[in-house]
Amino acid sequence: MCGIVGYIGSENSADIVYKGLEKLEYRGYDSAGIAVIKDDKIHIRRSVGKLINLQKNIKNNPISGFIGIGHTRWATHGKPSEENAHPHTDCSGKIVVVHNGIIENYIQIKQQLQKEGHKFASETDTEVIAHLIEKYYKGDLFNAVKSALKDIRGAYALSVICSDDDSRIIVARKDAPLILGVGKDENFIASDVSALLAYVRDVIFLENDDIAEIKKDSIKIFDKNGNEAKRTVQKILWDAIQAEKCGYKHFMLKEIYEQSQTIQDTFRGRISVEDNKILLETVKISKDFLNKISRICIVACGTSYHAGLVAKFMIEELTSIPAEVNIASEFRYGTPVLNGTVLTIFISQSGETADTLAALKLAKEKGATTLAICNVIGSSISREADNVLYTHCGPEIGVASTKAFTGQLTALYLLVMDFAIKKGTVSEDKLAYLIKQMWDIPIKVTECLKQSEQILEIAKTFHMKKQFIYLARNINYPIALEGALKLKEISYIYAEGYPAGEMKHGPIALIDENMPVMVIATKSKVYEKVLSNIEEAKARGAKIIAIANINNKEIIEKSDYQIFVPEVDEMFSPLINVIPLQFFSYYVSTMRGCDVDQPRNLAKSVTVE
Ligand code: M6R
Repeated sequence: MCGIVGYIGSENSADIVYKGLEKLEYRGYDSAGIAVIKDDKIHIRRSVGKLINLQKNIKNNPISGFIGIGHTRWATHGKPSEENAHPHTDCSGKIVVVHNGIIENYIQIKQQLQKEGHKFASETDTEVIAHLIEKYYKGDLFNAVKSALKDIRGAYALSVICSDDDSRIIVARKDAPLILGVGKDENFIASDVSALLAYVRDVIFLENDDIAEIKKDSIKIFDKNGNEAKRTVQKILWDAIQAEKCGYKHFMLKEIYEQSQTIQDTFRGRISVEDNKILLETVKISKDFLNKISRICIVACGTSYHAGLVAKFMIEELTSIPAEVNIASEFRYGTPVLNGTVLTIFISQSGETADTLAALKLAKEKGATTLAICNVIGSSISREADNVLYTHCGPEIGVASTKAFTGQLTALYLLVMDFAIKKGTVSEDKLAYLIKQMWDIPIKVTECLKQSEQILEIAKTFHMKKQFIYLARNINYPIALEGALKLKEISYIYAEGYPAGEMKHGPIALIDENMPVMVIATKSKVYEKVLSNIEEAKARGAKIIAIANINNKEIIEKSDYQIFVPEVDEMFSPLINVIPLQFFSYYVSTMRGCDVDQPRNLAKSVTVE
């Protein structure tokens, strides 16, 4: 949560920092602010609400300077207000801090500093950092930051400037991402690469406990022992254009339409239809290991958790290895039975989700082998895990995950097929069939995307409803959960996903003519069962929207509205069936006038627990 940006060079830092914040606004949008140094003075502008308010503020009261830092906030400590917006300053107003993370012991530090005479202007945990730095400041900002960090417990990505010295920005990170963009006679700081793409391709991912001094023509990084550290400069191949809306009204819509490409990008170079092979270079899981493991334990949050639920079906069907799926925030505080015979898989688009990261650390402590499926290169989870399999979806900006989800499913199909080959649990013929199915998915997705008009019409009928039930069975049950989550998060309509066969054990009592029911009824071994569940809901007055295969005539009689999708093997059907549900939520949300890309109370990257 929260995004931070910094710039030092020969351009107007306020402009560059603002543009960077625009790219990070998905990380939080309660308030925003920028600080620059000009003529040995700090100049700060802060505004409540979306970034556009900060832009208006700066337009009315312009600021400029060759060194600046900025922040876009997702409130944790203290309501969204101008006082609580970053940057925060010390008592003298000379030292300015932006921060992403949580300082766990801020109350104790604040009380101590107040006793020592420091005056606080906000309710935030961050402000203690500015005052602590002030306390230790003896003319050298780097040393003061270093001393202050010794007193702090918690997670942070920090950028600090001081009006006494406009030649450097001091940054530090622990359990929150911070990336340095390496330019020529200018350098950049950001919470993620999307803010840097317009300026640089060479980046450095800071490690935990690093502190760095950023000047316009040099970067010096020090590790936790105070030794100067060499960190690899990595090239980012993401296209800047991927982080733009490119004519679409919202990022979410663009990202839905990108899925045919992003699925293909995720399997490109990793499967070969000609010689029936899967090649996952970064996954060092051997045949021997797979033969000896007792189970696979998947951990994730939100949409990534739903990808994990689909993976359980694939794993058990194709490899016969028992699999379980856990919500990270529960798993980390439970007593999971883990040891060297368990493979743990962590799924995270951002690679920064605090609960998933903590669960990964716990699994490592307990001796389990770890594997991460992430979209963001160099993210904390991807670096912490023993193995990483990246999805190649490019930046996902919309808070509601779409292309990252289908990218995760694609990566999981590849992984499970790889395991099945190694374990010898699929025949050559079956493998050839599965690989061909995967290969054809992008074409099927393109066909599916053409149904958008039909879905728009259905959304017009239902967009004012107050509640929804999503039903499916078996491998599509997680897609019902995902469809309901999409609707909840961007339309604020109460929606629940259920296994269709579970309805009669209680939830069917909710059904009457005011309860629309979305049912996934594509070809599968449970298709007939789903039809019976449709009858049960219909008999109680529900309006049924069915997702069914093209050419299914029967469904027209059974349901009130139909969304037709191309037929694929049941195993791959989640990749197709989720797409109409994404469109449906999108259209309902726009018709209700909701903020699709930045829904209330949410942020893209959940770096608090
Ligand atoms: O970055 P992650 O995949 O770890 O994020 C997990 C969830 O926060 C995320 O999937 C969230 O549920 C999305 N808003 C869903 O659209």
